[in-house]
Amino acid sequence: MERPQPDSMPQDLSEALKEATKEVHVQAENAEFMKNFQKGQVTRKGFKLVMASLYHIYVALEEEIEHNKENPVYAPLYFPEELHRRAALERDMAFWYGPRWEDAIPYTQATRRYVRRLHEVGRKEPELLVAHAYTRYLGDLSGGQVLKKIAQKALDLPSSGEGVDFFTFPNVASATKFKQLYRSRMNTLEMTPEVRQRVIEEAKAAFLLNIQLFEELQELLGQDAEDQSPSQAPGLRRRVGSGARDAALTETPRGKPQPNLLSQAPLLRWVLTLSFVVATVAVGLYVM
Ligand code: HEM
Repeated sequence: MERPQPDSMPQDLSEALKEATKEVHVQAENAEFMKNFQKGQVTRKGFKLVMASLYHIYVALEEEIEHNKENPVYAPLYFPEELHRRAALERDMAFWYGPRWEDAIPYTQATRRYVRRLHEVGRKEPELLVAHAYTRYLGDLSGGQVLKKIAQKALDLPSSGEGVDFFTFPNVASATKFKQLYRSRMNTLEMTPEVRQRVIEEAKAAFLLNIQLFEELQELLGQDAEDQSPSQAPGLRRRVGSGARDAALTETPRGKPQPNLLSQAPLLRWVLTLSFVVATVAVGLYVM
């Protein structure tokens, strides 16, 4: 059946999505967290944070995919063997957070927002699930491969792939060919122009959820660096929101505060004050 399209919109959904998300893709690449990552400026703390967020995100995404695997609005895109990341992320969590990782991993605000949207879509608007699967899986099969190599080098990880299982797709022989297959499957989805427009908007929203996540993580890491900066006086350290931050950042090797004798020893402060008062009175009496 012929689908009427506005003149400027590519006919195929895959093309339309690529076109519509071009701008937000540039925005995602230019998020400070990603820019630093691309320069090899990624710390273990930053990497652990983003991986934990991805774990929560993929658990939600794949739960909703399983829920909709027979729904014709998603079924042609169901590739659990090739794509699903939950098991790989569980291995990565164990590598980075140890055997009790389930109790140890952070779950940040922006991650929760993303997860909430995934469940809403899966339960109430499953015709939009394609937008989320597209944004994550095609992204992982593209730029994700570069990020894997950068992380391995920057974090001095074993070449066996431990710690970066998420980026490895053992059941995808050729990422390029698989992406072609995936795009052709997306193009078989039957949808009205109205739904198609909503799918495009949802893909842009999915990119924004990722961008907000990067911004949040950068902020958390920035605050942490601030806390550890030896050049800053302890009294000037930022206190607001530090409780929430510590809840998000479970790893807590903090910089030791510079000792401030007066603020740490109230007794000493009292003795000095008292001596000052006694000396002032004595001088006063002597003058009289
Ligand atoms: C440092 C950050 C990133 C780099 C260097 C990067 C790089 C790339 C590259 C090289 C491609 C392949 C383009 C092609 O095959 O034509 C691509 C595609 C893609 N990327 Fe990214 N990317 C980054 C971040 C992201 C993020 C954060 C997302 C979303 C969460 C994302 C989603 C996508 C998607 C969905 C595609 C497939 C586009 C299509 O063919 O329709 N990317 N990326």
